[in-house]
Amino acid sequence: MALVKSRRKAISTLRAKRTLKNHDVADLSLAAEGHRRILWADQQMPVLRGIREKFAKTKPLRGLRLGACLHITCETANLLRALKAGGAEVLACASNPLSTQDDVAAALVEYDGIACYSIHGEDRDTYYRHLRTVLDSRPRITMDDGADLVSLLHTEYAAQAEEVVASMEETTTGVIRLRAMERDGALKIPVVPVNDAETKHLFDNRYGTGQSTIEAIVRATGILVAGSVVVVVGYGWCGRGVASRAHGLGANVIVTEVDPIRALQASMDGFRVMRMSEAAKAGDVFITVTGDKQVIAAEHFNLMKDGAILSNSGHFDVEIDLGALRKLTRKVEKGVTRNVDAYHLRNGKTVYLLGQGRLVNLTCAEGHPAQVMDMSFATQALCARWVASAKNHEIKVHDVPRDIEEEVATLKLASMGIRIDSLSAEQKHYLSSWQTGT
Ligand SMILES: NC(=O)c1ccc[n+]([C@@H]2O[C@H](COP(=O)([O-])OP(=O)(O)OC[C@H]3O[C@@H](n4cnc5c(N)ncnc54)[C@H](O)[C@@H]3O)[C@@H](O)[C@H]2O)c1
Repeated sequence: MALVKSRRKAISTLRAKRTLKNHDVADLSLAAEGHRRILWADQQMPVLRGIREKFAKTKPLRGLRLGACLHITCETANLLRALKAGGAEVLACASNPLSTQDDVAAALVEYDGIACYSIHGEDRDTYYRHLRTVLDSRPRITMDDGADLVSLLHTEYAAQAEEVVASMEETTTGVIRLRAMERDGALKIPVVPVNDAETKHLFDNRYGTGQSTIEAIVRATGILVAGSVVVVVGYGWCGRGVASRAHGLGANVIVTEVDPIRALQASMDGFRVMRMSEAAKAGDVFITVTGDKQVIAAEHFNLMKDGAILSNSGHFDVEIDLGALRKLTRKVEKGVTRNVDAYHLRNGKTVYLLGQGRLVNLTCAEGHPAQVMDMSFATQALCARWVASAKNHEIKVHDVPRDIEEEVATLKLASMGIRIDSLSAEQKHYLSSWQTGT
């Protein structure tokens, strides 16, 4: 009897340890709601669903441990489920302390058997503890959204770097960091900049960020976009999407840029282009999407209208100079409405900061629509299959293989019921020759 009791105790201690080890989420009782929302998103993600079904049969990731540092949302959950179906052991942590959907994190643990370390609103220490937990598991493939995992892998965990087959990167800011590492000779692992795939940035950065950023600002503030002066800072892939969606809702859009070609493009697309020192005086709503720091800086805040709304949809919370803003502020009033803090400036005016200056579409809304993430994450999943299939990729920033791009686009078109023409043999010859002229 004593033996049975001690065995039972050992089993329950083991279970407790396993439970402790395989998650750190806010509340497991939210799992059913998270699971429902994951399945709803799955309905809108036919390409990834098809890949998951194929992966379940072919198991291209069998036996590989994969650590993913991504925004923990229902769409990400469907990527993680596809990777698991492919045979990978998956561990996930958040790529932003405010973007985690706690119900999704709980569902990943309870329904999908995916180890998840991610809590909405976690502090900096917890955020990095979660990243370390994922790296402590010694993953062979990593995925990042902003290169935080890869950065740790090159510093604290440098001894482990050679075990990593490759890492995938989801966003522009992460790719900028990786290319800087490659340039400085600091890169220790092969990386695949999924962000740079056409099937990603042409759609996700433009249409996804465009729609979800405006949606988040409206959700947080309830403003009428029509007639508002919206200042879009940066006219890259994301900026173009944000500007066109704001314009579509009737906003009067101003663009600020530092790149003359993109500034020209914004002007020819019909937007007013000016310096931030001018735009600061005119804007009702400011949206930064540059990947750069301090693009709204000390000299701009005092110029702003009373009631101006400040938001950032770039990756890090460095685009609006929050340190400078605090110095100019007499009093910060937190949570005047959900996700909105009022900064009462010493000059007597008040400006409102959304989502603490972090990615507004993830802090004040649920990120991109699932249809958009379907393509980004299908590309991620197929890149994972690609890196797993070949040994010894060169240590460098690789391009996403063209056949993966074409596979994703073809699957997406098929899911939308769109059929396109193909080149005839004669056309192929014509397009590849130089002898035939007028
Ligand atoms: N919110 C989201 O869901 C989401 C999605 C994708 C990418 N991102 C992030 O958004 C940021 C922008 O991504 P992108 O793909 O549009 O990059 P991009 O490189 O295409 O565009 C950035 C633009 O900002 C401009 N810029 C840089 N500094 C500036 C300054 N001081 N003032 C005005 N303009 C300036 C650049 O000239 C460039 O045209 C990145 O941080 C990226 O990681 C966010």
